Amino acid sequence: MSSVQPNSHFVDLKDIPADVLHHILDTAKRWKAARRGLPKGAVDEGAPLEGYTLAMIFEKSSTRTRISFEMGMQQLGGSSLVLQGGSMQLGRGETVADTARVMSRYVDAIMIRAKSHDAVVELAEMGSVPVINALTDRSHPCQLMADMMTIEEHLGSVSGRPMAWLGDGNNVATSLIEAAVKFDFPLTLGCPDTLSPNAEALAWAHAEGGNITVTTDPVAAIKGAEVVFTDTWVSMGDDPNDGRMETLEPYQVNAQLMAHAADGALFMHCLPAHRGEEVTAEVIDGPQSVIWDEAENRLHAQKAVVAWCLGKI
Ligand code: CP
Ligand code: NVA
Repeated sequence: MSSVQPNSHFVDLKDIPADVLHHILDTAKRWKAARRGLPKGAVDEGAPLEGYTLAMIFEKSSTRTRISFEMGMQQLGGSSLVLQGGSMQLGRGETVADTARVMSRYVDAIMIRAKSHDAVVELAEMGSVPVINALTDRSHPCQLMADMMTIEEHLGSVSGRPMAWLGDGNNVATSLIEAAVKFDFPLTLGCPDTLSPNAEALAWAHAEGGNITVTTDPVAAIKGAEVVFTDTWVSMGDDPNDGRMETLEPYQVNAQLMAHAADGALFMHCLPAHRGEEVTAEVIDGPQSVIWDEAENRLHAQKAVVAWCLGKI
């Protein structure tokens, strides 16, 4: 049982103690194992979130996040409702603060995929129910929970395992930097100067004693890595015509680059992927790729995240 008070937010990994993150993943693995052989819509034994409702606000597109949270709430015996940001009064100028106060009267927790990270922080500050960050321009913490779970399933403890990020130093990279500190592994990010990772996240990681290196050399970045991550070169909200595609070409994860990673290194991608851009088909569809487990684990990891936010684990 975690020592942290119930009704806590899940906005960024950096704000959550490492023992809580491990506790969440241990729960996720236990619940995943307990469901083996059940239909996907079956309710977990004991219906841990019976009577609880999660509201999900989407200001950006989603496949995995929406479906995994919705199915997760169903499996926990709770319910969920999906709200498109543009169809709410929020999209017509109602303040985030007022939205937070009102929604807190109706639902038990709020998941939000937002254009602006500041809006998520404000929602958490002004509401009185837990808020879960389901991707912002800054970070994607739920993704990294699923990623850590996937690595633990394939390799055992993540602690001390060298990992590499190749490509755009984007929102997922920021959460990976925070994960490296919390889960205690060395991380090297290979990114062009113009698309380097979040400076504030790097400064925080270094102040915390994290072993994080940034280089513009893709081969140096991937050398000896046991896990290799990449992501789209054009995140939601980015301009695809700002020259990034050409700049990022040397960072494509292909067989030649993967050959510099450790033998049998895992390949990971949060998806959606663009074969022929950030990764070649032979890598993402090859034997080292664990992307389907990674996508599945969004469901299991997030169920435990919601349960922790609600003080149920
Ligand atoms: N990885 C991820 O968050 O996918 P979606 O954008 O489909 O939710
Ligand atoms: N970096 C990507 C992740 C999508 C899940 C984006 O923000 O669009």
